[in-house]
Amino acid sequence: MKIKDKVIVVTGGANGIGEAMARRFHAEGAKAVVVADRDFARAQMVASEIGGLAVACDVSIESDIQNLVKQTRDAYGEIDLFCSNAGIADGDPDKNNAASASNAAWERSWGVNVMAHIYAARAVLPEWIARGEGYFLNTVSAAGLLSQIGSAPYSVTKHAAIGWAENLALNHKDHGIKVSVLCPQGVDTNLLRAGPEGPQNLDGVLSPQEVAESVVQTLDEEKFLVLPHPVVLNYMRNKTNDYDRWIGGMAKLRRAIFAAR
Ligand SMILES: NC(=O)c1ccc[n+]([C@@H]2O[C@H](COP(=O)([O-])OP(=O)(O)OC[C@H]3O[C@@H](n4cnc5c(N)ncnc54)[C@H](O)[C@@H]3O)[C@@H](O)[C@H]2O)c1
Repeated sequence: MKIKDKVIVVTGGANGIGEAMARRFHAEGAKAVVVADRDFARAQMVASEIGGLAVACDVSIESDIQNLVKQTRDAYGEIDLFCSNAGIADGDPDKNNAASASNAAWERSWGVNVMAHIYAARAVLPEWIARGEGYFLNTVSAAGLLSQIGSAPYSVTKHAAIGWAENLALNHKDHGIKVSVLCPQGVDTNLLRAGPEGPQNLDGVLSPQEVAESVVQTLDEEKFLVLPHPVVLNYMRNKTNDYDRWIGGMAKLRRAIFAAR
């Protein structure tokens, strides 16, 4: 997909990766970029700088997503690319207990990291199926393909987000609908700085702008996996090649990370 002349929604567009994508899409000549975020003040700032529309939206609330889609359609017509990007990363409170996150933390991660993608699809799919096109870019994480040492809720909800995107892709390929999942390791954003310690920085921390570049290139190729850190594909292959060895390697990495604290 070429970005030029497209109507694009970016959730979590006020900061970090979402902000960089919104700015990059504008630079590529998008017809309109809608910046949706619960941080409305920053969403307005980003939107005003790129001539777009800011929408206040908590992606874990379905009626907010429905409102976002309606406001976008009213302003610009049908959405071509929906970037479901907002996400949160809660760490395990007790690093020696994978079940230590509270039920409230699990529910928060489930709402933002999983249900938001489903609400977005539910809001746009009928029109996209009818017109035979539409593109979802769901920001997930390398943690959805591998795992996040130090955060069970992040790992599990990001795995679920991959499962959802696979379903979306295989069920709607014949309707002309495309799906990509953005799966970086460390990216220099507020989320990384405030989030759980883990191995995500070991292969280098990218700038949000570098990630946006990778997104534009991979959307152009219309490939499912967007891997700004290409080494993630090797790790996936190692995992499927020998699961037990991979778990042993991750346990070793965990020991090294937490011993260094
Ligand atoms: N930074 C990394 O290292 C990294 C790595 C892999 C994946 N990711 C993923 O990238 C995505 C973007 O994260 P980021 O690193 O740019 O973080 P960030 O904190 O810089 O930006 C996230 C944005 O999402 C918004 N947001 C959070 N919860 C929301 C909600 N319920 N409703 C609406 N907006 C909400 C925040 O206000 C913020 O503007 C997330 O899905 C994250 O899991 C980040």
